Amino acid sequence: MRFPDGFLWGASTAAFQIEGATTVDGRTDSIWDAFCRRPGAVAGGDTGEPAADHYHRYPEDVASMNELGFGAYRFSVAWSRVRPDGGAVNTRGLDFYERLVDELLAKGITPWPTLYHFDLPQALEDEGGWTSRDTAYRFAEFAASTVERLGDRVPLWSTVNEPWCSAFLGYAAGIHAPGRREPKAAAAAAHHLLLAHGLGMAEIRQHAPSARAGITLNLYPVTALDPDTDADAVRRIDGLQNRLFLDPVLLGRYPEDLLEDLAPFDFPVRDGDTEIIAAPIDMLGINYYRGYEVTLGEKGEAAGPEWIGAEDVRFVPDPRAPLTASGWQVEPGRLTETLLRVHRDYPAIPLYVTENGAAYPDAVRPDGQIADDDRIEFLTGHLRAAGEAIAAGVDLRGFFYWSLVDNFEWAEGYAKRFGLIHVDYATQRRTPKHSAHFYAQVIAANALP
Ligand code: FCB
Repeated sequence: MRFPDGFLWGASTAAFQIEGATTVDGRTDSIWDAFCRRPGAVAGGDTGEPAADHYHRYPEDVASMNELGFGAYRFSVAWSRVRPDGGAVNTRGLDFYERLVDELLAKGITPWPTLYHFDLPQALEDEGGWTSRDTAYRFAEFAASTVERLGDRVPLWSTVNEPWCSAFLGYAAGIHAPGRREPKAAAAAAHHLLLAHGLGMAEIRQHAPSARAGITLNLYPVTALDPDTDADAVRRIDGLQNRLFLDPVLLGRYPEDLLEDLAPFDFPVRDGDTEIIAAPIDMLGINYYRGYEVTLGEKGEAAGPEWIGAEDVRFVPDPRAPLTASGWQVEPGRLTETLLRVHRDYPAIPLYVTENGAAYPDAVRPDGQIADDDRIEFLTGHLRAAGEAIAAGVDLRGFFYWSLVDNFEWAEGYAKRFGLIHVDYATQRRTPKHSAHFYAQVIAANALP
Protein backbone atom coordinates (compact mmCIF):
# COMPACT_ATOMS: atom_id res chain seq x y z
CA MET A 1 0.00 0.00 0.00
CA ARG A 2 1.54 3.29 -1.17
CA PHE A 3 0.78 6.78 0.17
CA PRO A 4 0.39 9.85 -2.06
CA ASP A 5 3.52 11.80 -3.04
CA GLY A 6 4.24 14.54 -0.52
CA PHE A 7 2.37 12.72 2.27
CA LEU A 8 3.58 14.32 5.50
CA TRP A 9 5.01 11.89 8.06
CA GLY A 10 5.89 12.67 11.63
CA ALA A 11 4.98 12.36 15.30
CA SER A 12 3.28 14.51 17.89
CA THR A 13 4.08 15.61 21.42
CA ALA A 14 2.79 18.25 23.85
CA ALA A 15 4.74 20.69 25.99
CA PHE A 16 3.69 19.55 29.46
CA GLN A 17 4.07 15.90 28.55
CA ILE A 18 7.72 16.04 27.46
CA GLU A 19 9.48 19.27 28.38
CA GLY A 20 10.10 19.10 32.13
CA ALA A 21 12.00 22.23 33.26
CA THR A 22 8.79 23.50 34.80
CA THR A 23 10.41 26.29 36.82
CA VAL A 24 13.09 27.27 34.34
CA ASP A 25 13.54 30.56 32.43
CA GLY A 26 10.53 32.30 33.88
CA ARG A 27 7.90 29.58 33.41
CA THR A 28 5.15 29.59 36.02
CA ASP A 29 2.47 27.04 36.90
CA SER A 30 -0.03 25.72 34.45
CA ILE A 31 -3.21 24.00 35.59
CA TRP A 32 -1.40 20.68 35.19
CA ASP A 33 1.38 21.67 37.62
CA ALA A 34 -1.31 22.51 40.17
CA PHE A 35 -3.41 19.41 39.41
CA CYS A 36 -0.39 17.13 39.89
CA ARG A 37 -0.03 18.42 43.44
CA ARG A 38 -3.50 17.21 44.39
CA PRO A 39 -3.20 13.93 46.26
CA GLY A 40 -4.49 11.08 44.13
CA ALA A 41 -5.07 13.16 41.01
CA VAL A 42 -2.27 11.59 38.96
CA ALA A 43 -1.20 7.94 39.10
CA GLY A 44 1.95 7.36 41.12
CA GLY A 45 1.95 10.98 42.30
CA ASP A 46 3.75 11.78 39.03
CA THR A 47 4.31 15.42 38.04
CA GLY A 48 5.59 17.39 35.07
CA GLU A 49 9.13 16.70 36.28
CA PRO A 50 11.26 15.32 34.85
CA ALA A 51 9.07 14.37 31.89
CA ALA A 52 11.45 13.60 29.03
CA ASP A 53 13.57 16.68 29.81
CA HIS A 54 12.99 17.73 26.22
CA TYR A 55 13.56 21.36 27.21
CA HIS A 56 17.25 20.52 27.47
CA ARG A 57 17.44 17.46 25.22
CA TYR A 58 15.60 18.80 22.18
CA PRO A 59 18.72 18.62 19.96
CA GLU A 60 18.96 14.89 20.59
CA ASP A 61 15.24 14.46 19.94
CA VAL A 62 15.40 16.43 16.71
CA ALA A 63 18.38 14.32 15.64
CA SER A 64 16.28 11.18 16.24
CA MET A 65 13.45 12.60 14.13
CA ASN A 66 15.95 13.25 11.40
CA GLU A 67 17.18 9.66 11.56
CA LEU A 68 13.61 8.42 11.38
CA GLY A 69 13.09 10.50 8.23
CA PHE A 70 10.34 12.77 9.55
CA GLY A 71 8.94 15.42 7.26
CA ALA A 72 7.31 17.30 10.13
CA TYR A 73 7.03 17.45 13.90
CA ARG A 74 3.92 18.48 15.80
CA PHE A 75 4.59 19.90 19.27
CA SER A 76 2.88 22.40 21.54
CA VAL A 77 3.86 25.76 22.95
CA ALA A 78 3.53 26.24 26.72
CA TRP A 79 1.48 29.37 27.38
CA SER A 80 3.11 29.52 30.88
CA ARG A 81 6.54 29.95 29.30
CA VAL A 82 5.52 32.55 26.74
CA ARG A 83 3.20 34.57 28.97
CA PRO A 84 3.77 33.37 32.54
CA ASP A 85 0.59 33.66 34.60
CA GLY A 86 -1.11 34.71 31.37
CA GLY A 87 0.55 38.13 31.73
CA ALA A 88 3.40 39.90 29.96
CA VAL A 89 5.55 38.23 27.30
CA ASN A 90 8.58 36.35 28.61
CA THR A 91 11.27 36.46 25.93
CA ARG A 92 13.16 33.49 27.40
CA GLY A 93 10.10 31.32 26.88
CA LEU A 94 9.86 32.29 23.23
CA ASP A 95 13.62 31.79 22.86
CA PHE A 96 13.19 28.11 23.65
CA TYR A 97 10.64 27.59 20.88
CA GLU A 98 12.83 29.55 18.49
CA ARG A 99 15.78 27.27 19.27
CA LEU A 100 13.57 24.23 18.71
CA VAL A 101 12.12 25.57 15.45
CA ASP A 102 15.56 26.49 14.11
CA GLU A 103 16.93 23.06 15.01
CA LEU A 104 14.04 21.42 13.14
CA LEU A 105 14.44 23.65 10.11
CA ALA A 106 18.17 22.97 10.02
CA LYS A 107 17.32 19.27 9.68
CA GLY A 108 14.67 19.87 7.03
CA ILE A 109 11.79 19.02 9.38
CA THR A 110 8.68 21.21 9.18
CA PRO A 111 7.66 22.57 12.59
CA TRP A 112 3.95 22.34 13.33
CA PRO A 113 3.19 24.01 16.67
CA THR A 114 -0.09 23.70 18.52
CA LEU A 115 -0.82 26.76 20.62
CA TYR A 116 -2.96 25.10 23.28
CA HIS A 117 -2.58 21.52 24.48
CA PHE A 118 -4.33 21.39 27.89
CA ASP A 119 -1.95 23.69 29.82
CA LEU A 120 -3.72 26.89 30.83
CA PRO A 121 -1.69 29.18 33.13
CA GLN A 122 -2.95 28.49 36.67
CA ALA A 123 -3.29 32.24 37.30
CA LEU A 124 -5.96 32.35 34.58
CA GLU A 125 -7.74 29.35 36.08
CA ASP A 126 -7.82 31.30 39.33
CA GLU A 127 -9.82 33.93 37.44
CA GLY A 128 -12.31 31.36 36.14
CA GLY A 129 -10.26 29.47 33.55
CA TRP A 130 -12.11 28.40 30.43
CA THR A 131 -15.46 29.15 32.08
CA SER A 132 -14.53 32.80 31.67
CA ARG A 133 -15.02 34.37 28.26
CA ASP A 134 -12.01 36.57 28.90
CA THR A 135 -9.71 33.52 28.74
CA ALA A 136 -10.40 33.24 25.00
CA TYR A 137 -9.17 36.82 24.54
CA ARG A 138 -6.10 36.13 26.67
CA PHE A 139 -5.41 33.14 24.44
CA ALA A 140 -5.53 35.43 21.42
CA GLU A 141 -2.82 37.62 23.01
CA PHE A 142 -0.66 34.58 23.66
CA ALA A 143 -1.24 33.37 20.09
CA ALA A 144 -0.30 36.78 18.71
CA SER A 145 3.00 36.94 20.61
CA THR A 146 3.97 33.42 19.59
CA VAL A 147 3.07 33.79 15.94
CA GLU A 148 4.70 37.23 15.77
CA ARG A 149 7.96 35.67 16.89
CA LEU A 150 7.92 32.44 14.87
CA GLY A 151 5.56 33.15 11.99
CA ASP A 152 8.35 34.00 9.57
CA ARG A 153 9.61 30.41 9.78
CA VAL A 154 6.68 28.22 10.77
CA PRO A 155 4.35 27.26 7.90
CA LEU A 156 1.79 25.16 9.83
CA TRP A 157 -0.12 26.04 12.99
CA SER A 158 -2.84 24.51 15.13
CA THR A 159 -4.83 26.64 17.51
CA VAL A 160 -6.29 24.21 20.04
CA ASN A 161 -5.84 20.49 20.64
CA GLU A 162 -8.85 18.38 21.62
CA PRO A 163 -11.12 21.03 23.17
CA TRP A 164 -13.42 18.15 24.17
CA CYS A 165 -10.82 16.89 26.68
CA SER A 166 -10.09 20.33 28.11
CA ALA A 167 -13.77 21.11 28.55
CA PHE A 168 -15.38 17.82 29.57
CA LEU A 169 -12.55 15.90 31.24
CA GLY A 170 -11.24 19.08 32.88
CA TYR A 171 -14.44 20.75 34.04
CA ALA A 172 -17.13 18.00 34.18
CA ALA A 173 -15.37 14.70 34.94
CA GLY A 174 -12.54 16.38 36.87
CA ILE A 175 -10.03 13.74 35.76
CA HIS A 176 -7.96 16.29 33.82
CA ALA A 177 -6.80 19.65 35.11
CA PRO A 178 -8.27 21.82 36.54
CA GLY A 179 -10.18 18.92 38.09
CA ARG A 180 -13.59 20.56 38.39
CA ARG A 181 -16.85 18.62 38.39
CA GLU A 182 -19.31 21.26 37.28
CA PRO A 183 -21.39 20.44 34.21
CA LYS A 184 -22.22 24.09 33.47
CA ALA A 185 -18.55 25.00 33.67
CA ALA A 186 -17.79 22.32 31.07
CA ALA A 187 -20.40 23.68 28.67
CA ALA A 188 -18.99 27.18 29.04
CA ALA A 189 -15.44 25.89 28.60
CA ALA A 190 -16.33 24.09 25.36
CA HIS A 191 -17.71 27.28 23.85
CA HIS A 192 -14.86 29.47 25.06
CA LEU A 193 -12.25 27.03 23.74
CA LEU A 194 -13.92 27.23 20.33
CA LEU A 195 -14.02 31.01 20.61
CA ALA A 196 -10.31 30.93 21.45
CA HIS A 197 -9.72 28.88 18.32
CA GLY A 198 -11.52 31.44 16.16
CA LEU A 199 -9.76 34.41 17.75
CA GLY A 200 -6.45 32.56 17.43
CA MET A 201 -7.06 31.97 13.73
CA ALA A 202 -7.40 35.73 13.24
CA GLU A 203 -4.04 36.31 14.95
CA ILE A 204 -2.35 33.64 12.83
CA ARG A 205 -3.75 35.24 9.65
CA GLN A 206 -2.51 38.63 10.75
CA HIS A 207 0.99 37.64 11.86
CA ALA A 208 1.70 34.78 9.45
CA PRO A 209 -0.42 35.47 6.38
CA SER A 210 1.10 32.70 4.27
CA ALA A 211 0.97 29.98 6.94
CA ARG A 212 -1.65 27.23 6.88
CA ALA A 213 -3.62 26.78 10.08
CA GLY A 214 -6.43 24.86 11.70
CA ILE A 215 -7.64 23.04 14.79
CA THR A 216 -7.19 19.47 16.05
CA LEU A 217 -10.22 17.52 17.26
CA ASN A 218 -10.41 14.10 18.84
CA LEU A 219 -13.12 12.35 16.90
CA TYR A 220 -14.75 9.11 17.96
CA PRO A 221 -17.01 7.08 15.70
CA VAL A 222 -20.19 6.29 17.62
CA THR A 223 -22.49 3.38 16.77
CA ALA A 224 -25.66 1.96 18.29
CA LEU A 225 -25.74 -1.39 20.03
CA ASP A 226 -29.27 -1.73 18.68
CA PRO A 227 -29.99 0.58 15.73
CA ASP A 228 -33.75 0.38 16.41
CA THR A 229 -33.70 1.60 20.00
CA ASP A 230 -30.34 3.32 20.51
CA ALA A 231 -30.37 6.00 17.83
CA ASP A 232 -30.89 8.76 20.38
CA ALA A 233 -27.88 7.59 22.39
CA VAL A 234 -25.76 7.89 19.24
CA ARG A 235 -27.18 11.31 18.46
CA ARG A 236 -26.31 12.67 21.88
CA ILE A 237 -22.86 11.13 22.32
CA ASP A 238 -21.84 11.93 18.76
CA GLY A 239 -23.22 15.40 19.40
CA LEU A 240 -21.13 16.09 22.49
CA GLN A 241 -17.99 14.41 21.21
CA ASN A 242 -17.93 15.30 17.51
CA ARG A 243 -20.62 17.62 16.15
CA LEU A 244 -20.28 20.17 18.99
CA PHE A 245 -16.86 20.99 17.54
CA LEU A 246 -17.04 20.01 13.87
CA ASP A 247 -20.26 21.89 13.10
CA PRO A 248 -19.38 25.39 14.36
CA VAL A 249 -15.87 25.20 12.89
CA LEU A 250 -16.81 23.75 9.49
CA LEU A 251 -20.49 24.64 9.04
CA GLY A 252 -20.65 27.90 10.96
CA ARG A 253 -23.37 26.89 13.41
CA TYR A 254 -23.98 24.74 16.46
CA PRO A 255 -26.31 21.80 15.81
CA GLU A 256 -29.90 22.66 16.82
CA ASP A 257 -30.40 19.45 18.77
CA LEU A 258 -27.28 20.12 20.85
CA LEU A 259 -28.29 23.69 21.57
CA GLU A 260 -31.48 22.21 23.01
CA ASP A 261 -29.61 19.55 24.98
CA LEU A 262 -27.17 22.15 26.34
CA ALA A 263 -29.71 24.84 27.18
CA PRO A 264 -30.09 23.60 30.80
CA PHE A 265 -26.33 24.08 31.15
CA ASP A 266 -26.44 27.78 30.20
CA PHE A 267 -24.41 27.30 27.02
CA PRO A 268 -23.03 30.84 26.73
CA VAL A 269 -23.16 31.67 23.00
CA ARG A 270 -23.39 35.38 22.16
CA ASP A 271 -24.29 37.07 18.90
CA GLY A 272 -21.37 37.02 16.51
CA ASP A 273 -19.55 34.13 18.23
CA THR A 274 -20.34 31.54 15.59
CA GLU A 275 -18.91 33.84 12.90
CA ILE A 276 -15.65 34.06 14.86
CA ILE A 277 -15.50 30.30 15.37
CA ALA A 278 -16.20 29.63 11.70
CA ALA A 279 -13.09 31.52 10.53
CA PRO A 280 -11.93 29.54 7.48
CA ILE A 281 -9.29 26.93 8.30
CA ASP A 282 -6.81 25.36 5.88
CA MET A 283 -6.77 21.87 7.33
CA LEU A 284 -8.39 19.82 10.06
CA GLY A 285 -6.30 17.73 12.42
CA ILE A 286 -7.95 14.54 13.59
CA ASN A 287 -6.79 12.59 16.62
CA TYR A 288 -8.11 9.05 16.48
CA TYR A 289 -7.77 6.42 19.19
CA ARG A 290 -10.96 4.33 19.24
CA GLY A 291 -14.75 4.33 18.86
CA TYR A 292 -17.82 3.96 21.04
CA GLU A 293 -20.78 1.61 20.94
CA VAL A 294 -23.66 3.03 22.95
CA THR A 295 -27.06 1.98 24.21
CA LEU A 296 -30.04 3.21 26.22
CA GLY A 297 -30.57 -0.36 27.42
CA GLU A 298 -29.12 -2.26 30.32
CA LYS A 299 -25.83 -3.52 28.91
CA GLY A 300 -22.42 -1.92 29.26
CA GLU A 301 -21.00 0.71 31.56
CA ALA A 302 -22.71 3.88 32.76
CA ALA A 303 -21.62 7.16 31.16
CA GLY A 304 -19.20 9.18 33.27
CA PRO A 305 -19.92 12.76 34.40
CA GLU A 306 -18.22 14.14 31.26
CA TRP A 307 -21.36 13.22 29.28
CA ILE A 308 -23.42 16.12 30.54
CA GLY A 309 -27.11 15.63 29.86
CA ALA A 310 -26.46 12.11 28.53
CA GLU A 311 -25.84 10.29 31.79
CA ASP A 312 -28.48 7.69 30.91
CA VAL A 313 -26.40 6.45 27.98
CA ARG A 314 -24.30 3.32 28.49
CA PHE A 315 -21.07 2.39 26.72
CA VAL A 316 -20.73 -1.20 25.57
CA PRO A 317 -17.21 -2.52 25.13
CA ASP A 318 -16.60 -5.10 22.41
CA PRO A 319 -15.42 -8.21 24.28
CA ARG A 320 -13.54 -9.45 21.19
CA ALA A 321 -11.46 -6.32 20.61
CA PRO A 322 -7.81 -6.43 21.72
CA LEU A 323 -6.88 -3.74 24.24
CA THR A 324 -3.88 -1.44 24.60
CA ALA A 325 -2.22 -0.92 27.98
CA SER A 326 -4.61 2.02 28.45
CA GLY A 327 -7.51 -0.45 28.17
CA TRP A 328 -8.54 1.14 24.88
CA GLN A 329 -10.01 -1.08 22.19
CA VAL A 330 -7.87 -1.51 19.09
CA GLU A 331 -10.18 -0.67 16.19
CA PRO A 332 -8.20 0.36 13.12
CA GLY A 333 -11.17 0.05 10.76
CA ARG A 334 -12.95 2.78 12.64
CA LEU A 335 -10.21 5.25 11.66
CA THR A 336 -11.33 4.76 8.06
CA GLU A 337 -14.94 5.28 9.22
CA THR A 338 -13.97 8.51 11.02
CA LEU A 339 -12.13 9.96 8.04
CA LEU A 340 -14.94 9.00 5.65
CA ARG A 341 -17.52 10.60 7.90
CA VAL A 342 -15.75 13.96 7.92
CA HIS A 343 -15.26 13.67 4.15
CA ARG A 344 -18.95 12.89 3.63
CA ASP A 345 -20.66 15.22 6.12
CA TYR A 346 -18.53 18.38 5.91
CA PRO A 347 -17.18 20.72 3.22
CA ALA A 348 -14.01 19.51 1.51
CA ILE A 349 -10.90 20.28 3.54
CA PRO A 350 -7.44 18.68 3.74
CA LEU A 351 -7.25 16.30 6.69
CA TYR A 352 -4.30 15.15 8.77
CA VAL A 353 -4.21 12.39 11.35
CA THR A 354 -2.47 14.54 13.96
CA GLU A 355 -2.45 11.76 16.58
CA ASN A 356 -2.82 8.01 16.60
CA GLY A 357 -0.87 5.61 18.75
CA ALA A 358 -0.93 3.21 21.66
CA ALA A 359 0.58 2.45 25.05
CA TYR A 360 1.98 -1.05 25.51
CA PRO A 361 4.04 -2.65 28.31
CA ASP A 362 7.31 -2.23 26.37
CA ALA A 363 9.53 -4.55 28.38
CA VAL A 364 13.20 -3.71 27.96
CA ARG A 365 15.04 -6.93 27.08
CA PRO A 366 18.35 -7.79 28.73
CA ASP A 367 20.09 -6.73 25.52
CA GLY A 368 18.44 -3.30 25.87
CA GLN A 369 16.05 -3.75 22.93
CA ILE A 370 12.32 -3.02 23.08
CA ALA A 371 10.58 -5.49 20.81
CA ASP A 372 7.18 -3.82 20.68
CA ASP A 373 5.53 -6.04 18.09
CA ASP A 374 2.12 -5.07 19.49
CA ARG A 375 2.75 -1.42 18.57
CA ILE A 376 4.00 -2.40 15.11
CA GLU A 377 0.78 -4.32 14.58
CA PHE A 378 -1.25 -1.34 15.86
CA LEU A 379 0.56 1.02 13.54
CA THR A 380 0.27 -1.30 10.55
CA GLY A 381 -3.47 -1.63 11.06
CA HIS A 382 -4.06 2.08 11.42
CA LEU A 383 -1.83 3.03 8.49
CA ARG A 384 -3.69 0.52 6.34
CA ALA A 385 -6.96 2.09 7.53
CA ALA A 386 -5.65 5.55 6.62
CA GLY A 387 -4.61 4.27 3.20
CA GLU A 388 -8.06 2.79 2.66
CA ALA A 389 -9.65 6.14 3.40
CA ILE A 390 -7.36 7.78 0.84
CA ALA A 391 -8.29 5.11 -1.72
CA ALA A 392 -11.95 5.91 -1.01
CA GLY A 393 -11.38 9.57 -1.88
CA VAL A 394 -10.49 11.19 1.46
CA ASP A 395 -8.05 14.09 1.12
CA LEU A 396 -5.69 12.87 3.85
CA ARG A 397 -2.35 14.68 3.69
CA GLY A 398 -0.31 13.30 6.57
CA PHE A 399 0.02 11.05 9.61
CA PHE A 400 1.53 11.85 13.01
CA TYR A 401 2.17 9.03 15.44
CA TRP A 402 1.47 9.75 19.13
CA SER A 403 4.09 10.01 20.45
CA LEU A 404 7.72 10.61 19.55
CA VAL A 405 9.05 9.71 23.01
CA ASP A 406 7.51 8.14 26.12
CA ASN A 407 5.99 10.90 28.23
CA PHE A 408 3.63 12.08 30.95
CA GLU A 409 0.27 10.61 30.00
CA TRP A 410 -1.90 13.04 31.98
CA ALA A 411 -3.76 11.37 34.88
CA GLU A 412 -2.01 8.09 34.06
CA GLY A 413 1.42 9.61 34.72
CA TYR A 414 4.55 8.00 33.30
CA ALA A 415 3.27 4.43 33.52
CA LYS A 416 1.67 4.51 30.09
CA ARG A 417 4.32 4.52 27.39
CA PHE A 418 3.20 5.72 23.95
CA GLY A 419 6.60 6.56 22.46
CA LEU A 420 8.38 5.30 19.38
CA ILE A 421 11.43 6.03 21.50
CA HIS A 422 11.75 4.59 24.99
CA VAL A 423 12.77 6.95 27.79
CA ASP A 424 14.52 5.72 30.93
CA TYR A 425 13.29 8.44 33.28
CA ALA A 426 16.10 7.89 35.79
CA THR A 427 18.86 8.55 33.25
CA GLN A 428 16.87 10.20 30.42
CA ARG A 429 18.48 7.68 28.09
CA ARG A 430 16.55 7.30 24.83
CA THR A 431 16.26 3.97 22.99
CA PRO A 432 14.32 3.67 19.74
CA LYS A 433 11.84 0.80 20.00
CA HIS A 434 11.43 -1.68 17.15
CA SER A 435 8.34 0.29 16.14
CA ALA A 436 10.56 3.32 15.50
CA HIS A 437 12.62 1.31 13.02
CA PHE A 438 9.44 0.01 11.43
CA TYR A 439 8.00 3.52 11.12
CA ALA A 440 11.24 4.77 9.56
CA GLN A 441 10.93 2.06 6.89
CA VAL A 442 7.35 3.08 6.14
CA ILE A 443 8.42 6.72 5.83
CA ALA A 444 11.40 5.91 3.62
CA ALA A 445 9.23 3.82 1.28
CA ASN A 446 6.17 6.09 1.59
CA ALA A 447 4.37 2.77 1.72
CA LEU A 448 3.47 -0.09 4.02
CA PRO A 449 5.80 -3.05 3.61
C1 FCB B 1 -4.75 12.50 23.43
C2 FCB B 1 -3.93 13.71 23.84
C3 FCB B 1 -2.46 13.44 23.94
C4 FCB B 1 -2.14 12.06 24.47
C5 FCB B 1 -2.96 11.01 23.79
C6 FCB B 1 -2.67 9.60 24.25
O1 FCB B 1 -6.05 12.64 23.89
O2 FCB B 1 -4.10 14.76 22.90
O3 FCB B 1 -1.89 14.47 24.69
O4 FCB B 1 -2.24 12.03 25.84
O5 FCB B 1 -4.32 11.28 23.94
